[in-house]
Amino acid sequence: MKNSNAAKLILLHPSSLHKQGAGAAAASAAAIAASHRVWLIFFISFFTLAFTLTLITTKDSSAAAASANSASATKKSPLPRPVFDALIHYASVNTSTVFSRMSASELSAVAAVLRRCNTNTNNPCNLLVFGLTHETLLWSSLNYKGRTVFVGDSDYFVSKLEQKHPEIEAYDVQFTTKVNELYELLEYSKEQLKNECKPVQNLLFSDCKLAINDLPNYIYDVAWDVILIDGPLGFLPTSPGRMSAIFTAGVLARSTKGSAGKTDVFVHEFDREVEKVSSEEFLCEENLVEITEKLGHFVVGKMEVNERDHQFCSDVSDSIASSSSPLSKTSKYWVDS
Ligand SMILES: *[C@@H]1O[C@H](CO)[C@@H](O)[C@H](O)[C@H]1NC(C)=O
Repeated sequence: MKNSNAAKLILLHPSSLHKQGAGAAAASAAAIAASHRVWLIFFISFFTLAFTLTLITTKDSSAAAASANSASATKKSPLPRPVFDALIHYASVNTSTVFSRMSASELSAVAAVLRRCNTNTNNPCNLLVFGLTHETLLWSSLNYKGRTVFVGDSDYFVSKLEQKHPEIEAYDVQFTTKVNELYELLEYSKEQLKNECKPVQNLLFSDCKLAINDLPNYIYDVAWDVILIDGPLGFLPTSPGRMSAIFTAGVLARSTKGSAGKTDVFVHEFDREVEKVSSEEFLCEENLVEITEKLGHFVVGKMEVNERDHQFCSDVSDSIASSSSPLSKTSKYWVDS
């Protein structure tokens, strides 16, 4: 149809130029051309309008979709796997079979510091925990955004934990100390105060009998924000006791490379002799901020190398060296057991 019309137009044009009687044909050709132009304008404006409408509606719907996405993200981001697993673990564990656990107020004391540590700084919170306990998955979850490292005294329990929870970082240490060697070890550490057992050093290169020096190298370079000592075992005279963990925490806190320059150190079973006397020696009464039931809380500051001429505590007269019976000392802080 269209083709034959176009052919007619082409045939008509030359004849209309040469023949006078072809006026009507020329007029009809002009009318056809005009009507084509109208159609063309109509189509162009129609498509322009349609295109503009499409643009507006897609922009609106994509914006709506984006805002819907962000709303659902804040409301329903999936629970991280370790937190999910921890919830299941604590919901299903038979607590009457748990050997020892922290009390509600002791848990709150640690949790409060972990919360502050995770919100007040832009850096992730570094948490070092001595002891694999009932609370292991809890600490790992409470510090989910940060770095948590566990130190255990049994390679069996460490590998069992890692198998079950591959996201947990844990190392085992062979402790060489014994609870009944406490005072010998403290005397030894006094003699070595300017050498192997000094308060500011990289323990990786220390031969101090109280130093834990066989952890992965990087552990000694981390600025630990929180150190929790709830292991190794210390119930029996031949148990390893926590003097090495407490000494190590005292040195890590003083030797930190962190800008904050202070470390929260918690010592559990603080009512026992080893924990109390070792804390007094290496964490110091001046740094004790709170005792919650059996949990001592210290805040230990970074120390410059030449400060205090190699002493852990500023008031040496309070330390074991000048007192024959440190436990008989009466103090508003120290709990006597
Ligand atoms: C929890 O363990 C105790 C001791 O083994 C047992 O007597 C008790 O039945 C257990 N409770 C549940 C709910 O499994």
